[in-house]
Amino acid sequence: MDKIAIRGGNRLSGRVRVGGAKNAALPLMCASLLTEGTLTLSNLPRLADITTLMRLLVQHGVEMNMDGDESCRAAGRQGLTIGMDATGVNNTTAPYDLVRKMRASVLVLGPLLARFGNARVSLPGGCAIGTRPVDLHLKGLQHLGAEIDLDQGYIVAKAPNGLQGGEVVFPFVSVGATENLMMAATLAKGTTRLVNAAREPEVTDLGECLIKMGAKISGLGTDTLEIEGVSGLHGAEHPVIPDRIETASLAMAAAVTRGEIDLIDARPDHLGSAIEAMEAAGINFSPIEGGLRVSCSELVGTDVMTEPYPGFPTDLQAQMMALLTTASGASMITESIFENRFMHVPELMRMGANINLHGRSAMVRGVERLTGAEVMATDLRASMSLVIAGLAAEGETLVNRVYHLDRGYERLEEKLSACGADITRIKEQS
Ligand code: UD1
Repeated sequence: MDKIAIRGGNRLSGRVRVGGAKNAALPLMCASLLTEGTLTLSNLPRLADITTLMRLLVQHGVEMNMDGDESCRAAGRQGLTIGMDATGVNNTTAPYDLVRKMRASVLVLGPLLARFGNARVSLPGGCAIGTRPVDLHLKGLQHLGAEIDLDQGYIVAKAPNGLQGGEVVFPFVSVGATENLMMAATLAKGTTRLVNAAREPEVTDLGECLIKMGAKISGLGTDTLEIEGVSGLHGAEHPVIPDRIETASLAMAAAVTRGEIDLIDARPDHLGSAIEAMEAAGINFSPIEGGLRVSCSELVGTDVMTEPYPGFPTDLQAQMMALLTTASGASMITESIFENRFMHVPELMRMGANINLHGRSAMVRGVERLTGAEVMATDLRASMSLVIAGLAAEGETLVNRVYHLDRGYERLEEKLSACGADITRIKEQS
């Protein structure tokens, strides 16, 4: 397993391009199952999770055309371009060995069921951050007339006469359930209302792509979505939005070194209240042409609670905690979305952080400095928090289990070293 070695203390400065959003790309790729037309997505990040989903879609019978990639590069654009053609889908089973690698695989359920009237999808695995059930996805689909059984670890869903529009009221906000239901409802008979829907920019990006494919959706960006079913969708071309989590993670990496970097393609309008929280911690943001300048001279403690968008994202909680370990004063960080999402805490403490956990809250008291240590990445965002801590720490930090990081951050060590960080990947010895 690869490791990442960081010698902390270098002040970051330079320019970095933010890649396409993984969490937008995954549902968009699943939307290709809804049509016989070709869905061409550009600005896809080159990440392990994207490859996993490509493999899942290919085994369903989706044809992937990456010819566009070269022309895209030639045109000076970044990211991957893939044309997806789901005309020949001949298998509606999503098997355990692929689904267990990535929870977002469950997003094939809604599209397969809507277009083919049946789907068999393994119950998902994914990051070890709590139990993470899929009951809202299943109850929502049942509201649209699906018959759902669980059989030997598989969700078996049937809608032989097609799905029927209806009102689905989510008891709490779920990004994935909103996306699954929105995709399924595009081909249902009649109108579907999704109440208490997620408002994340990735949900809106999916909705905008579905509209390009011929779907009738209103209310994007609000908590009530209305989808009028149509008899068929067609192909479309769509660029994936830049990754807001990568944007803020890189901003925090620069800030922890009291540095200054330009984030090219960053979309501050997608950061919601994360930008205010980072400003409260002492990070300065100023718009520049085509992006955002980030600088920081002093970090101060601040309180943060994770919430659905536009609140502070749970996917930035670990990174924010690492940032605040060397801030002056104390910070209270409360995780309200996932249970068991504090696995980075003991690792940060091994680097000298002063953190006290009380249930779903962590009290972080700023320390003068962190010291490098060998640490273990436990999930995707926790890995990034250890990299951020390593950039600030005295001496060498060795981050193990880097495969977590590779699921969600593209060429992270290249991006950071281009800005002056002393960071290298140590390849696995076989
Ligand atoms: C998505 C993101 C993930 C992010 C999360 C919250 C993708 C691919 N992943 O995950 O990075 O951390 O949103 O912003 O976009 N829940 C249930 N039952 C369900 C569904 C969810 O109880 O059927 C719970 C979850 O356990 C969690 C909460 O609802 O406590 C929110 O989860 P959800 O928004 O669904 O997260 P994901 O879509 O899986």
